[in-house]
Amino acid sequence: MTHPNRRPLIAGNWKMHKTVSESVALARAIADTSRIGPRTDVVVAPVFTALSAVKTALEGTPVALSAQNLHWEAQGAFTGEVSAAMLVDVGCRYVIIGHSERRQYFGETDDGVAKKTRAARGAGLVPIVCVGETLSEREAGITFDVIGRQLDAMLAVLDESALATTVVAYEPVWAIGTGKTAKSSDAQLAHAFLRDRAKNKFGDAGDALRILYGGSVKADNAAELLAQPDIDGALVGGASLDAEGFGRIIRAAG
Ligand code: 13P
Repeated sequence: MTHPNRRPLIAGNWKMHKTVSESVALARAIADTSRIGPRTDVVVAPVFTALSAVKTALEGTPVALSAQNLHWEAQGAFTGEVSAAMLVDVGCRYVIIGHSERRQYFGETDDGVAKKTRAARGAGLVPIVCVGETLSEREAGITFDVIGRQLDAMLAVLDESALATTVVAYEPVWAIGTGKTAKSSDAQLAHAFLRDRAKNKFGDAGDALRILYGGSVKADNAAELLAQPDIDGALVGGASLDAEGFGRIIRAAG
């Protein structure tokens, strides 16, 4: 039986899209509660500049707020960065960490991801830590080495009790924004591998860890992915920018 902690979680990563007013309009449309079943957690991650306004727009709705990144220091001379406590202050409950775009374009490392995970947890945020292999890594047959290494870096800063309030997102890089989704059976294999690895380290507590799939999730493929036993939700990019399509993904989760 699935661990009771693993309520389906559908998160929209808006990436670098939308002005403040556009973000508020999208958040309001998504929060239309008729779209959200009582058993599903829904999270949206707007750009930093829209967090405050979206927080206000979401008040009294079941949709929670996430940031897309943070810095691991609490404060200081780190131009352009935002700390975990600042995200809590603006109303975030979640933060995405180590997205492949940050690893690819902004030089994020496993070590930085570990520091960010520790900082997020220290401030009471739920980290959504992203792992995933590139196309060349998949073709070289090293998918599990790569995602195992990425997972280990983040598990190293957790203890057993943290697993219920930590989220992992498996996002194969070749599936992001390409329209190519991993086959649900391949995604399930990767998710089961990640869960087993967490269980090897922490025993049965690993059953509480929620593992989301990300990479070209759309309304018409969500149900099949979400039906896999170790897929606990979705981290959605492009399709989360349209309230109607995102609502259909949410409904596919139950
Ligand atoms: P797409 O859903 O646009 O492929 O993006 C996935 C993603 O990167 C979510 O974090």
